[in-house]
Amino acid sequence: MSGHEASPSFEQVFGRPPEYIVRSPGRVNLIGDHTDYTGGLVLPIAIDRAVIVAAHPTGEAFVDVRSAHFRERVRIALNEMTADPATAWSRYAVGVMAMLKRRDIKLRGAQLWIGGDLPPGAGLASSAAIEVGIALAMLTAAESLSRSWFTVEYDRLGSRSHSGPGMGTRMNPPPDELASLCRRAENEFADSPCGIMDQLCCTSARAGHALLIDCQTMRTQAVPLNLDDAELIVVDTGVRHSIAGAEYAARRRECASALEAIRRADPLITSLREMTLDGLESFADALGDTLFRRVTHVVTENARVARAAEALRAGDPHAFGRLMTESHTSLRDDFAVSCPELDTVVSIARSVDGVYGARMTGGGFGGCAIVLAHADAVDTLRSAIRESYNSQYATCATVFIVRSADAARVE
Ligand code: GLA
Repeated sequence: MSGHEASPSFEQVFGRPPEYIVRSPGRVNLIGDHTDYTGGLVLPIAIDRAVIVAAHPTGEAFVDVRSAHFRERVRIALNEMTADPATAWSRYAVGVMAMLKRRDIKLRGAQLWIGGDLPPGAGLASSAAIEVGIALAMLTAAESLSRSWFTVEYDRLGSRSHSGPGMGTRMNPPPDELASLCRRAENEFADSPCGIMDQLCCTSARAGHALLIDCQTMRTQAVPLNLDDAELIVVDTGVRHSIAGAEYAARRRECASALEAIRRADPLITSLREMTLDGLESFADALGDTLFRRVTHVVTENARVARAAEALRAGDPHAFGRLMTESHTSLRDDFAVSCPELDTVVSIARSVDGVYGARMTGGGFGGCAIVLAHADAVDTLRSAIRESYNSQYATCATVFIVRSADAARVE
């Protein structure tokens, strides 16, 4: 393991090489935003940018965590599990450890170094990547303490076991349970009312595939990324958002109020997922203009995700791109989660020959857009962004090609 890129950094901090390394990928959502928390459909890929957690178990009663990005170090006592209020990121670490403890996992002290090339706060699901990375690092430490105990614990959780790469046969927690645990950690400890998409993508994705997630049932389906000469390009607007922010929570509340209003008129409806665009018309008065537009987005976006998965299967980048662009319009106009910078990136991208489609991705209010373009169009896209975007805004946009990657794993 000491040959890994994270090893020198871990060694500089802790004076010895790590025992193992967890690679926990970020995600780009191709289509289906603000649908996960109402039981809808989403279609993300895990990307080749990741959070790396380098780890060495210790016999101590605390976990020593160093964040390379924030250049901060925290000590988390395993019997107390309190976050250091001065380091916002440590709430993710504490949250995950507390959740594991709540499931009776007997945690072991460890030294953890968190780094990697996934930019935080860019809408590429760095929080989920940190959570899953820490969970796997802590579970691996627990496993090496007492393998048989670990196995028993996981059997009790009803897990399936399989052989993993690297350290021989290991017991891995089921991806959906691991994702739910990490999501709860974020909901409870980071005050972020996120849905399940990011964590489930991080634990379940496959390279070469997009992951179609039905957030109602948590069922996932790997759809081959069948896009020939097309590339997926991320444009980071440089505008930093926080999904713990008021607007994300406000949209969640609006969706909940909309469902309540619909149910007052028709108690048989249990979820926005059951709504159709035609059926929605009859609730227009009950919803009022704002809630009507929010639900219109959710309903049309779920339909677009289903069609986008079909377009992917059929290897049709034109159809896929059109759906992406429609999705952006819906997020901008009906769901109101875009911002001028994202809208500018999308309209610049759409003006470039060879671009199939573009949209904001993730929570919105800044962060990244995703563009689907023919490989020959990538250089022109880069120059167009440099010329038109960077001259208009105080922040500079960063443009990079992303490739699909596998779920988080211990190396
Ligand atoms: C954030 C949340 C996800 C999802 C997206 C919007 O990334 O973490 O659960 O709601 O926003 O699609």
